[in-house]
Amino acid sequence: MRQVQLFDDIEKILINEAELKEKVIELGKKISDDYNGLNPVFVTVLRGSIIFLCDLIREVKIPISLDFLSVSSYSGQSHTGVVRIIKDLDENIENKHVILIEDIIDTGLTLNYILGMLRERKPASIKVCALLDKKVRRIIDIAIDYKGFEIPDEFVVGYGMDYNQQYRNLPFIGILKEEILNQD
Ligand code: IMP
Ligand code: MG
Repeated sequence: MRQVQLFDDIEKILINEAELKEKVIELGKKISDDYNGLNPVFVTVLRGSIIFLCDLIREVKIPISLDFLSVSSYSGQSHTGVVRIIKDLDENIENKHVILIEDIIDTGLTLNYILGMLRERKPASIKVCALLDKKVRRIIDIAIDYKGFEIPDEFVVGYGMDYNQQYRNLPFIGILKEEILNQD
């Protein structure tokens, strides 16, 4: 049987594997320098950020710990405006240095909600590390302390990010063909 090719649905590669790797090394180095001796907690927002997290932490050369949070804010391509906590953190972050790991900041609504919730728990500090920034779409202005790439207003998939739960395993970040997006 012919193998169904995931790549067939991709119109264009926006960020390739080599570019991702280079950026992740750079971010890992910066975080290692800034957090030396602070033992930060990487709080990762599931599920889109996991590939970024896995690559990033292997470029971080200081002790860290991990915790995970799951929220829901999207169905398909459209923003519902509602952020729901599906899975909360397992550990207490009081007095800890938190780095929030996000795949992509779009309107900023999700991040704003999560930051508000985490700040109430009195961490020693909280910073944001996001691989992608879709700046033109921003509704709420939020500082991204460690940023990978700014991207145009296009719906992207791959490197952890999905469209209807598919395409997360693409090793690059790409844009889907129009006929795939229009099926919704
Ligand atoms: P925001 O609340 O609009 O900033 O949405 C942020 C979340 O929506 C991200 O963490 C992603 O999970 C998802 N998202 C936003 N844009 C895209 C995209 O282009 N592709 C895949 N997921 C996206
Ligand atoms: Mg996300």
